[in-house]
Amino acid sequence: MIEVRNISKSLPGGRKLLDGISFTVRKGEFVGILGPSGAGKTLTLRCLNGLMKPDEGSVLLTDAEGKTQDICRAGKTKLRMMRQKIGVIFQGYHLIRRLTALDNVLVGRLGQISTIRSLFYGFTEKEAEIAMQALEKVKMTHLSTAQVGRLSGGEMQRVAIARAIFQAPDLLLADEPLSNLDPSNAKVIMKLIQPLAQQMPVIGVFHQPDMTARYCTRVIAIKDGRVMYDGDPVLSHGQLADIYGEELRQIEQPAPSIILSGAPAAPQPPESYERNFI
Ligand SMILES: Nc1ncnc2c1ncn2[C@@H]1O[C@H](COP(=O)(O)OP(=O)(O)OP(=O)(O)O)[C@@H](O)[C@H]1O
Ligand SMILES: [Mg+2]
Repeated sequence: MIEVRNISKSLPGGRKLLDGISFTVRKGEFVGILGPSGAGKTLTLRCLNGLMKPDEGSVLLTDAEGKTQDICRAGKTKLRMMRQKIGVIFQGYHLIRRLTALDNVLVGRLGQISTIRSLFYGFTEKEAEIAMQALEKVKMTHLSTAQVGRLSGGEMQRVAIARAIFQAPDLLLADEPLSNLDPSNAKVIMKLIQPLAQQMPVIGVFHQPDMTARYCTRVIAIKDGRVMYDGDPVLSHGQLADIYGEELRQIEQPAPSIILSGAPAAPQPPESYERNFI
């Protein structure tokens, strides 16, 4: 379970980016976070996995043994341990492009094995077997030895999900896991993420209210750093208009995601798991 209590974050100049966000998500729930661009959705997720400390409030994580800890107040070592139990699927994959699909899944547990072993990618056969099982869950075993940089967007996102599964987390966070995917791949990814909520709370940020209505158990809408809706995943046109304002037309008619040949390639994320922040 994750309990977010009244988290706030301001810029040094005083501008409030998050303004008293609170919600609780339990195992069995797949929560979709919606909201206009710049609303504070990514910042909220970053507070949830300890990448950013809010100025106020707490984020209480309860592990499989029932132990509850506040990630906002965890010291360096405890924070590292807590973050090992949080699976994250980032906007834009965040995979290591020169490694194979299988290696990318395996490095998902790097924080959990000794430094010496990790330096040499010294994974045991058992670990490789479990990693292959994770790839099987996302129907990617046939591409386990393919270099990730050569995979399609949908395939890369499936590797990212396999990596999160292999990590065996207590909580799964996903920031725009459907970005850059066509509607049929988006459905495949939602169908893979949805059942994971049976094992852990799953929270994802989405820009597709039709997808969250269909696959999520609950929707939270964030606007101007505040929770403005928390409830049934099926929202009326009027509710969506309140959430998105002017942006609603773009949401209803998403731009085609097909990149024409000759068009400049989309920018790739750096080969690291974390970004520097504030
Ligand atoms: N490193 C930063 N320093 C200062 N302000 C930031 C930083 N990162 C984000 N912000 C600001 O915080 C606000 C919320 O950003 P956030 O990334 O959470 O938006 P979002 O809801 O995820 O939007 P999008 O849907 O476009 O991804 C925005 O106004 C953004 O400009
Ligand atoms: Mg964002």
